[in-house]
Amino acid sequence: MSNYHIKHLEEYFQVYRKSVRYPEVFWEEVAEEHFLWRKKWDKVLEWDFSKPEIKWFQGAKLNITENCLDKHLYIRGDKTAILFEPNDPKEEAQHITYKQLHEKVCRFANVLKSKGIQKGDRVVIYLPMIPELAVSVLACARIGAIHSVVFAGFSSTALSTRINDCQAKMVITSDGSYRGGKTIDLKGIVDEGLEECTTVENVLVAKRINSDIEMKSGRDHWLQPLLDEASSECDAEIMDAEDPLFILYTSGSTGRPKGMLHTTGGYMVYTAYTFKNVFQYKENDIYWCTADIGWITGHSYIVYGPLANGATTVMFEGVPSYPDYGRFWEIVQKHKITQFYTAPTAIRALAKENLDFVNKYDLSSLRILGTVGEPINEEAWHWYNDNIGDKKCPIVDTWWQTETGGVLISPIPFSTPTKPTYATLPMPGIQPALMDENGNEIKGNSVEGRLCIKFPWPSIARTIWGDHERYKNTYFSAFENKYFTGDGALRDEVGYYRITGRVDDVIIVSGHNLGTAPIEDSINEHPAVAESAIVGFPHDIKGNALYGYVILKETGEVRDRDNLRTEINQLITDHIGPIAKLNKIQFVPGLPKTRSGKIMRRILRKIASKDTSNLGDTSTLLNPEVVELIMKDAL
Ligand code: WT7
Repeated sequence: MSNYHIKHLEEYFQVYRKSVRYPEVFWEEVAEEHFLWRKKWDKVLEWDFSKPEIKWFQGAKLNITENCLDKHLYIRGDKTAILFEPNDPKEEAQHITYKQLHEKVCRFANVLKSKGIQKGDRVVIYLPMIPELAVSVLACARIGAIHSVVFAGFSSTALSTRINDCQAKMVITSDGSYRGGKTIDLKGIVDEGLEECTTVENVLVAKRINSDIEMKSGRDHWLQPLLDEASSECDAEIMDAEDPLFILYTSGSTGRPKGMLHTTGGYMVYTAYTFKNVFQYKENDIYWCTADIGWITGHSYIVYGPLANGATTVMFEGVPSYPDYGRFWEIVQKHKITQFYTAPTAIRALAKENLDFVNKYDLSSLRILGTVGEPINEEAWHWYNDNIGDKKCPIVDTWWQTETGGVLISPIPFSTPTKPTYATLPMPGIQPALMDENGNEIKGNSVEGRLCIKFPWPSIARTIWGDHERYKNTYFSAFENKYFTGDGALRDEVGYYRITGRVDDVIIVSGHNLGTAPIEDSINEHPAVAESAIVGFPHDIKGNALYGYVILKETGEVRDRDNLRTEINQLITDHIGPIAKLNKIQFVPGLPKTRSGKIMRRILRKIASKDTSNLGDTSTLLNPEVVELIMKDAL
């Protein structure tokens, strides 16, 4: 029996039991079986959730790019590593082989070095989904620089906040990006963001849209001429297993975005292992994950996990609706995709369109379908199963988080029987626990509670960059000696898990994790606004949409409400990005508050969802009368 590859349900249970009883033996065997180490570890695991401190494969030496690239050169050097599908279907797809990718990464790594980037330096990458994005990520890893990819849909303020938080020395961007029928001036956004930053010495600019942009002399450099000059050989920096690999920002329920820090050895082992099993990858498969590399899904399951397995991984630059709603299915047919991994919000959007967009294409190459990012509703699950998978492709509903690095709960296709809306069973090595409000573990089946994990797994984030205290408070303080996920879940009669959604003030909109606090802060910057509160309400495509309750300052002047709404959404777009815009804005005379001054979001959520039959006890409120007033004018 190979620990690395699970092939049927009985084997899953065997492997799972072993992974819980002897976690160190289990992970040591996985790590030995499949990876290139320059030196093996002295100790498999050391952990203490109370500090918290987690160390996997201590003392081991490696470079993750040797595992993603060099390892494959002799066996599959001419195999396509990255298959790039451009925004415009008329532009030719690019097949980048492992040999070519290796060379590109080495050249890029040498460019980074020539601009003074060294091991441990932070490099912010703000690029569209073009090959340079994957190459620059790997080039950083090649030389031990810590990459921090910022999704290229974020605003200049969001970008500068992240650059400043990690004190980046360099930014990598492009002259612009294509998104459906639009072009976006990425370099202009970077220029604006950099006005607020002092640590960035150099900006590398890839050419994508051939626009005429301004280059700041001494700071900005076109990438291509530097790559042409650079050597195509670059020895990999030998890293400790616990050396940082990357920082990726995610929203919290309060305050600034959290820079989740992932380290090298454990992250590599876990993402590779879960990729192999969750997608049952075989040598000639063409795997496509539609996420952006700006999110953790792209890091783990477009770049590192697939490449560590020698897979062919598709990078798609465009959007599902361009040039029409058949684009995804056209690509599936064109490249004979075998595994297709997307978000419920995309499925719901496409399910609304005419089925002709699907039926025009031959989808028979598909073997496995996946979803990630938010709970999938039953209707969307069935649409996906019936129309895309033709009832023959298992759907892997994969539950995980930026913080977890890799998938924690998911069916293993062809082993675990699937069940609509259930992420089903924990991956080997994952020990979930459901907790009640008094901090006790709820044992047994057919129960519901707050989802925690009791034991570390190799790819858990090690800290929040620059703020270990916050890491401890956010994840390890709610329940003693457990990692708290922020999600609620239920466990059915056979032990399958269903994730019911966030139990904190994070709202998932179209699969994007949004914290209420940064949005409220943006709104409150408007001179006419006194206070605001954001809640989520059900939306048939986005999953959740945002509802804002806004108290205006009593300035005496009567303002145009629609104008105000536009201005508020513009502020949010400027500070965070268009994904955080509010669908509804209600101007209210007050907000329901507890006597300690905490906003009762529970009540606001009910009003926003038009579910006011049972508001619960409002008598403990400081201002119960305001609830009626809000309900009267609810949108
Ligand atoms: C939150 C994490 C993991 C990559 C994308 C999101 C929600 C994620 C599922 C799922 C139900 C899910 C959770 C989680 N979530 N996958 N299969 N079923 N909910 O990463 O931005 O860090 O968000 O997304 O609420 O906590 P993220």
